[in-house]
Amino acid sequence: MFKKIAFLIVLASLVLTACAPAAPAATEAPAAKVWTYKDMTIGFLQTGSEGGWRAANTASFKESATQLGLNLKFYDSQNDLAKQVAGFQQFIADPEVDVIAISPLEAAGWEQVLKDAKAAGKPVILSDRRIDGNEDLYVTFVGADFVEEGRKAGTEMCKLLEGSEKKNVWELVGNVGSSPAIDRGKGFRETAEKCGIVVTNSQTGNWSIVEGKQVTEAWLKESQDVQGIFGQNDEMAFGAIEALKEAGLVPAVDVKIISVDATAGAFQAMLDGTLNVTVECNPLIAPQVYEAALAALNGESLPKWIPSIEGIFYSDDPNLKEIAAGRKY
Ligand code: AHR
Repeated sequence: MFKKIAFLIVLASLVLTACAPAAPAATEAPAAKVWTYKDMTIGFLQTGSEGGWRAANTASFKESATQLGLNLKFYDSQNDLAKQVAGFQQFIADPEVDVIAISPLEAAGWEQVLKDAKAAGKPVILSDRRIDGNEDLYVTFVGADFVEEGRKAGTEMCKLLEGSEKKNVWELVGNVGSSPAIDRGKGFRETAEKCGIVVTNSQTGNWSIVEGKQVTEAWLKESQDVQGIFGQNDEMAFGAIEALKEAGLVPAVDVKIISVDATAGAFQAMLDGTLNVTVECNPLIAPQVYEAALAALNGESLPKWIPSIEGIFYSDDPNLKEIAAGRKY
């Protein structure tokens, strides 16, 4: 009897197993999407078009996007902060945009939109200029150490004014509130003050030749007691050169001049003998920005800063002509 029940139980369990619906197979998480440049749409917020450096930077974004086959949505903020914030919000809301890159016009005030981008699952890459605030709100910063650029300029101005009885320097500053303007000024004073340089005038020229000239003209009307001019970019230094000439002073001789950017115009000014030194700020950083964007979409971890490679160039360099001929911007 017991054997029969045992057999029936076994038989019954076999029948039940056979009839029971198959236990659902363990649901494997779908394989994570592997992004390629061809899948990627990046929304890039440019500052505007304020000179040779910016034109080279914009070209770097447009040309390398074509080369990599990625979809670039390019937003020109026309050097207007409100427009740049509106463009940022537009990219957060745009379902096509996978990742956002920005060259912030000013360093402060980005906390809320960065939080909104994070909430929307859109990685953010800072390009060229940093922001103040919580670095957890962006993936990485691709760009220069602007403080170091300022330090370099200060050190070079000390060399140029070595032995000079007086070391009064005028500073043409970038747009107020931007990280290059803040940091280059800080770095310049750090090294320049070590050799007794005194910054006797400092004012924004908004990165432009015209304003650089106007500001320098106004200072020259007050006094010609200046031994050096530090232009935080090439264009403002070019404006100062014109103003000095019109005031009967010899640029790079009577008044030493240093700029930042090292664009083609700066090389021409050095070849013309009107500019002494230019500290490079590399605009060709788009490929690094795109690489970081793709890595972010594929969940790779990135350092918080991806530095750009930069040098210093001198008017008395015997190979200046060849160097200038080989420049990309
Ligand atoms: O952010 C970089 C700066 O922006 C460049 O030095 C200047 O030329 C540009 O306007």
